[in-house]
Amino acid sequence: MQNRDKLSPHAMLNLPIRPRRNRKSAAIRGLMRETELTPAHLIYPMFVQEGEEDTPIESLPGCKRWSVTGIVQECRRLYALGIPCVDLFAVVPEEKKDARGSEAWNPEGVVPRAIRAIKAAVPELAVMTDVALDPFNTYGQDGIVREYGDGRYEILNDETVEALCRQALCHAHAGADIISPSDMMDGRIAALRAALDAEGFSAVSLMSYTAKYASAMYGPFRGALGSAPKFGDKKTYQMDPANAREAVREALLDAQEGADFLMVKPATLYLDVVAELRRCTQLPIAAYHVSGEYLMVKAAAASGWLDERAVMLESLLSIRRAGADMILTYAAPQVAEWYREEH
Ligand code: PBG
Repeated sequence: MQNRDKLSPHAMLNLPIRPRRNRKSAAIRGLMRETELTPAHLIYPMFVQEGEEDTPIESLPGCKRWSVTGIVQECRRLYALGIPCVDLFAVVPEEKKDARGSEAWNPEGVVPRAIRAIKAAVPELAVMTDVALDPFNTYGQDGIVREYGDGRYEILNDETVEALCRQALCHAHAGADIISPSDMMDGRIAALRAALDAEGFSAVSLMSYTAKYASAMYGPFRGALGSAPKFGDKKTYQMDPANAREAVREALLDAQEGADFLMVKPATLYLDVVAELRRCTQLPIAAYHVSGEYLMVKAAAASGWLDERAVMLESLLSIRRAGADMILTYAAPQVAEWYREEH
């Protein structure tokens, strides 16, 4: 006793409050843990293409452009791993693109075919679909473009909303559970809700891309789809990365218009926005850990500088801690496999 006191003068501190007591063992830390990350919180974004090939995506290591046959097989595996939901994006060959993006509401398009096949094979898996025109029009813009002929152009809001309603109805007819408009047009949530209800799809949910920022982090995704804007940028509809109050304004509008849940994108660079929306609405909140955020971890890990598993899990946990109920992430299958190893 005498000796130990000599070695530890700080044991003399009169310190009744010691937060370290709550961290003293794995068991105690488990009891104190505020946030959890499990496969049940994850939505997996997937790319589906025409033909029978499943092709690896160079810009998104671990992800593929799936054929309809391939995606069904993969969905069985994902559901067995505990992933509750997938989000489908179309890969559209150049020859099927036109100025209006009309392939977006072709009932025989690759997305409606994939929805039908997945719902037939794994009915319990929730199928979400992306609604926006950028993979389908020749401009790579989310909306309908009016060109003025002198290099100026405009993304038409109300005409776009009408097109999005057609696309959403096409997905609903095919059996989609959740429609997620990623376009950032004004008024699209109310219009989509009305269009779905009018055709008897009152049970189809709407996840609004409420605060989608004009971020530089979408590069690898646009590479995967060949959907980068052919000219200009998306700043007249996606939000300015400098703004947080504006996200609250969008959230309150989406809630009023009938969104079932809200989404913030990107996720880790916008944790303040996730936390802010958590405070200002009662709706569930999703966050999209986007392609660039995913690739930063993968690339750093591939060069040996970061521990992939630890950094990926910490990134996703931070999104949950900020207040997101669910996370869209390309790491979903990997996280579910790691989770299985530990449980
Ligand atoms: C476009 C869309 C984008 C993403 C999802 N939907 C790209 C963009 O807005 O240009 C990005 C997803 C990601 O980077 O992972 N409707």
